[in-house]
Amino acid sequence: MAQHAEHAEHLGEHAFEKLAAFIHGYCGIHITPSKRTMLEAKLHRSMNAAGITSVGAYCRLLTDPQSAADEEEIVRFIDALTVNKTDFFREAVHFDFLERQHLPALSADGQRLFKVWSAACAIGAEPYSIAMVLDDFCHRLPGADYFVLATDICTKVLDQAISGRYNEQQIAHLPQKYRKRHLLMAKDRSRHEFRMAPHLRAKMAFSQVNLMSARYPVSVDYDAIFCRNVLIYFDKPTQIAVLTKLAEHLQPKGCLILGHAESIVGLHLPLRQVANTIYMPD
Ligand SMILES: C[S@@+](CC[C@H](N)C(=O)[O-])C[C@H]1O[C@@H](n2cnc3c(N)ncnc32)[C@H](O)[C@@H]1O
Repeated sequence: MAQHAEHAEHLGEHAFEKLAAFIHGYCGIHITPSKRTMLEAKLHRSMNAAGITSVGAYCRLLTDPQSAADEEEIVRFIDALTVNKTDFFREAVHFDFLERQHLPALSADGQRLFKVWSAACAIGAEPYSIAMVLDDFCHRLPGADYFVLATDICTKVLDQAISGRYNEQQIAHLPQKYRKRHLLMAKDRSRHEFRMAPHLRAKMAFSQVNLMSARYPVSVDYDAIFCRNVLIYFDKPTQIAVLTKLAEHLQPKGCLILGHAESIVGLHLPLRQVANTIYMPD
């Protein structure tokens, strides 16, 4: 009875603060009081899916997991909280920079292996776009090769990225010039499904990485890191911590690329701006 009442009511003040603190500590997402209704809706949806009727019991499961099943529930809850909006060649200026400035500058120095990390890759539109640019560039440069690492905290979106399968709507913004070489249509045309070509997938790796982790298994020699449209969900101290660590994974001539609404101004990081939302190590 008491459990039912707790579920039917809104998240109490103390429970909200505790849950928001847990989410912030776990994945960096900053839930302000103005997002309380959104949090409640997602909480109730996750509780229903898990068959749990008490807000208190569900919050305890998240904040003090006792079993592997509880840990899996945390992943499902965080999956439900993340905003995964993305698109192929979203913010096209970044792909132009990669193709026309960054890769030519590195190759002029004799470099022939190019490594790029898409650090909040969502369903994969971003890393596949990067791979298409790299593939075309390497195709024109004898002896050149590339690697793209695609990571995200959300397992649900990573599954689609790994599958490399997209519907017509999802590829709507993929420029024609990339479709011929890098896109395959499903054998059954009535499914209107597209697959990323195997030659791209052969140069890519996918894994779950929480940018808030103290350590992640990523090498420190990336030529570019795309970390776009995720920092906006973090508060300033979290942005500083995440970006400081990301910068350590860049090679000296590498660049960090943020989303159009993101900036490092005022964060005092060892990075200098080279173009709008594009930074290089100091
Ligand atoms: C709005 S999408 C951006 C996708 C892509 N970078 C773009 O700009 O189109 C934000 C992504 O960040 C991921 N994310 C949120 N918190 C994260 C964290 N702590 N570590 C890694 N990824 C995270 C979400 O799961 C989501 O897929």
